[in-house]
Amino acid sequence: MSTPTHSHSGLQSDDWFMEHPRLSEFVATSRELIGGSGGNVPALLRALEAPFRDLLADQTWLAPQFGIGCETGGMGGGIGQWLLFRSADHTLTLFSLVVPPGSSTPVHDHHAWGLVGLYRGEQAEDVYRRETTTPDPAGRAPLTLVEQRTVRPGDMYRLLPPSDDVHAVRTTSAVPSVSIHLLGIDAGCVWRHRFEPDHAMAHPFRSGYSNEPCADAEAKPPELIACA
Ligand SMILES: [Fe+2]
Repeated sequence: MSTPTHSHSGLQSDDWFMEHPRLSEFVATSRELIGGSGGNVPALLRALEAPFRDLLADQTWLAPQFGIGCETGGMGGGIGQWLLFRSADHTLTLFSLVVPPGSSTPVHDHHAWGLVGLYRGEQAEDVYRRETTTPDPAGRAPLTLVEQRTVRPGDMYRLLPPSDDVHAVRTTSAVPSVSIHLLGIDAGCVWRHRFEPDHAMAHPFRSGYSNEPCADAEAKPPELIACA
């Protein structure tokens, strides 16, 4: 069962953008683990892996409209970033990222812990190490490419800033890649960075979501135009 309706009843409520027992069970499990983690993020990420693996293995729950690209998506390249769940306090989000064949995300950071897993398709991921914790006032932020890897359905990786949260992904399959992201932040609406590794530069970046404008985006800059 899946329904595409967006349900929330106020600023203090959780936002659900689709409904499915598998999704609600995973979010409940995640919250239990977060509550019991005592702030130990590496242990939390380890504990989340088993339920996340089960979520990735089930091909029935993702509503079809969250498995397609978005021409006006803030990531560029026709990439869709579809918010599935956001907690009332915006400290937990689950979303799908749909990258068309041949398209790449910018090199970007996340500013929060996360667990990312591939649901469909195949990706090449470039992983970078920051050489400075934050960009200097001129925006200089040198990065070093430390790993290039292939990501296949069921594969997952952790985001753990400040050391392990800068990367770019490109779809290498003939079909769009669909990855599922559990983040400890409102990832589409916070300001983070996109990088130009060749020029050692970082730029302010906000990806937005393809199905929900950010609350403070009254001017609706181009990166926040929704697809749905
Ligand atoms: Fe990412």
